[in-house]
Amino acid sequence: YVAQVNDLGADTKGGGKSSAAADKVVEEIRAKGGKAVANYDSVEDGEKLIQTALDSFGRIGVCVCVLVFTVVFVFLCTPDLIQRVHLRGSFLVTRAAWNHMKNQKFGRIIMTTSAAGIYGNFGQANYSAAKLGLLGLANTLAIEGRKYNVYCNTIAPVAGSRLTETVMPPDVVAALKAEYVAPLVLWLCHEDCQENGGLFEVGAGWIGKLRWERTKGHTVRQKNKAMSPEAVRDHWDKICDFTAATRPSGIQESLQSIMTVLSQVESDEVGANPTASAAATGGSAINPVSTDVGQKVSTSLFTFNHTQCILYALGVGMSTKDPDHLRFLYENHPDFGCLPTFGVIASQAVLMEGGLSSVPGLGIDFTQVLHGEQYLELYKPLPTSGTLRSEATVADVLDKGSGAVLLLDVNTYNGDELLCFNQFSVFVVGAGGFGGKRTSDRVKVGFPPNLRCISKLHKNRTSLLNAALYRLSGDWNPLHIDPSFAAMGGFKQPILHGLCSFGFAARHVLKQFAGNDPSRFKAIKARFAKPVLPGQSLQTEMWKEGNRVHLQCKVKETDVVVLAGAYVDLHGESDSDVCPHAGGGLQSELVFAEIGRRIESLGSELVRKVNAVFGWEITKDGKTAAQWTIDLKSGSGSLHRGAGGGKADVTFTVSDQDFMEVVQGKLNPQKAFFSGKLKIRGNIMLSQKLEVILKDYAKL
Ligand SMILES: *[C@@H]1O[C@H](CO)[C@@H](O)[C@H](O)[C@H]1NC(C)=O
Ligand SMILES: *[C@@H]1O[C@H](CO)[C@@H](O)[C@H](O)[C@H]1NC(C)=O
Ligand SMILES: *[C@@H]1O[C@H](CO)[C@@H](O)[C@H](O)[C@H]1NC(C)=O
Repeated sequence: YVAQVNDLGADTKGGGKSSAAADKVVEEIRAKGGKAVANYDSVEDGEKLIQTALDSFGRIGVCVCVLVFTVVFVFLCTPDLIQRVHLRGSFLVTRAAWNHMKNQKFGRIIMTTSAAGIYGNFGQANYSAAKLGLLGLANTLAIEGRKYNVYCNTIAPVAGSRLTETVMPPDVVAALKAEYVAPLVLWLCHEDCQENGGLFEVGAGWIGKLRWERTKGHTVRQKNKAMSPEAVRDHWDKICDFTAATRPSGIQESLQSIMTVLSQVESDEVGANPTASAAATGGSAINPVSTDVGQKVSTSLFTFNHTQCILYALGVGMSTKDPDHLRFLYENHPDFGCLPTFGVIASQAVLMEGGLSSVPGLGIDFTQVLHGEQYLELYKPLPTSGTLRSEATVADVLDKGSGAVLLLDVNTYNGDELLCFNQFSVFVVGAGGFGGKRTSDRVKVGFPPNLRCISKLHKNRTSLLNAALYRLSGDWNPLHIDPSFAAMGGFKQPILHGLCSFGFAARHVLKQFAGNDPSRFKAIKARFAKPVLPGQSLQTEMWKEGNRVHLQCKVKETDVVVLAGAYVDLHGESDSDVCPHAGGGLQSELVFAEIGRRIESLGSELVRKVNAVFGWEITKDGKTAAQWTIDLKSGSGSLHRGAGGGKADVTFTVSDQDFMEVVQGKLNPQKAFFSGKLKIRGNIMLSQKLEVILKDYAKL
């Protein structure tokens, strides 16, 4: 052990000065085989103190600012002395050690605060102020020292010291021995300890960590209106409501949520996603710290019979006008069956019955929840009656700035048999900005459209009744039926359920490519891009690549894409209807799909940063297998298949394999270039900006 003991040697009355106390500690350390020197300078002479240590040991690794005082002493202190010894003393000693620690790229600083500072204590105003001042000092040192491996933590010990001995009963003092504090200090000082900026209470063998918590809060200001004290008073409960509290990890995070509010107030933003619900007055909160990825949300049972299957089929637009549809509408039909997308109905029960609100760490305001994407995979054809059990887990939580995306994986069982898997991607307005990641390898990815490949068109008019019928399958959100609720969400009239359009599109595919045979259906993925109004016509555009049918769904009247990045996977023979321009099983397809998604969510930001058009030629077995154009120059950016008509500022040619190695970080792009694996035509300087587009794909 190498230690330095600094003690003014004051007795409990704060008078007298002796070297005995420090010498005693030094002796104890030496007796145990350690090295120690005593120093008797005042902490105000921080430089001298540190110099003693440097002279003796040549290095400062650890700086423990333990300045021990108690209540008794405080009465005798002038305010100035309190400040001088506690705050200024710790500051001066630390400052003297700081550069040595920084230069040697190692340092551990422990500040000693006290419960009186953290909580306040009657009659200890000066002391509390000085002690909490230390915490502020430690917080900033933790940030400034981080990159030099100089970490700073703060402890609030309750230890039996010379000072507590006189005010506490002996058995209490015995339980509060310094031996019970020192191990924490030693661990915090260890080079293996990565704790930085922490605050701990410690005593009697117990150690606890403290942190700041902040309520979800409430925006009491409206655009172009003065903010009034009455508004503050009227929303006081919401301002102080800790149920959806968050724990900002730093000043950026703290500021970011305020900036989010600012932009919401300025734009009167109602919801980022227009398929969306309700007014964003409050905003939900997701606490990434306590929202455990992988935690089970809830389990629910769904009991049904043919009634529910038929109701669902009617909800997604089937009618007896079409003889093909009878097998889904009449329980005595010899081929009677459930539509495959009924699988979402059986599973959604787990979320509808308050499942979401039971997730610890999620303070979800249900008017703020929008359905973003859906993936469904069937392992067996659905039965037409029975009781199914669904289990939901949080697969991931993503931070999209204006909101958070919650990925919920739901497994649905028939008895012990896994029947289907759903991934609900839920957008929670206003819950973003917690500093979380933007993407996840848990996402079931969709694909950007390849419009030149459209081979089949299927149009169906939705009926004015569809939303009203579809609700009866279990999604009772008033947004889809109640005009005044829809108006609150910024819609002129109630909108169709995203999953209703999803059902339309799925049955279009089933009819077109699988002869309406539900057993051919394997999986479906879709993103809800824009709302559909009941009565509008849905047009599903489809093209097939192997067993995968890519599709997008538009509102025919407005030509707006409402289901995007969608596909249906089928079982059975893969017929000849293959898109000539398709990717043909390239691994890079996935990456481009993801690039397409990022451009959709971050397009304008990327255009600002990059301002260039990139062309890609992906080769396989020496031949060009796919071409892509990433346009980050105009509008809010876009991704297309194809050469992009010579617009590209720079074009990269690389094999599918090498492309994957580059994006996974296994192959350095420069090396790839010099070894001829990556060919570049055009403005080669622009390849420097590639990183902005290609980073963070390692997990794909
Ligand atoms: C600080 O402590 C002294 C002595 O107890 C007291 O007289 C003084 O009012 C205190 N100052 C503040 C700001 O509380
Ligand atoms: C089917 O379910 C409905 C509604 O849950 C119920 O009213 C009806 O009795 C059931 N029918 C049969 C034959 O079990
Ligand atoms: C839906 O479209 C298909 C083919 O385009 C057509 O045969 C069918 O009658 C339409 N159904 C309705 C209810 O419009």
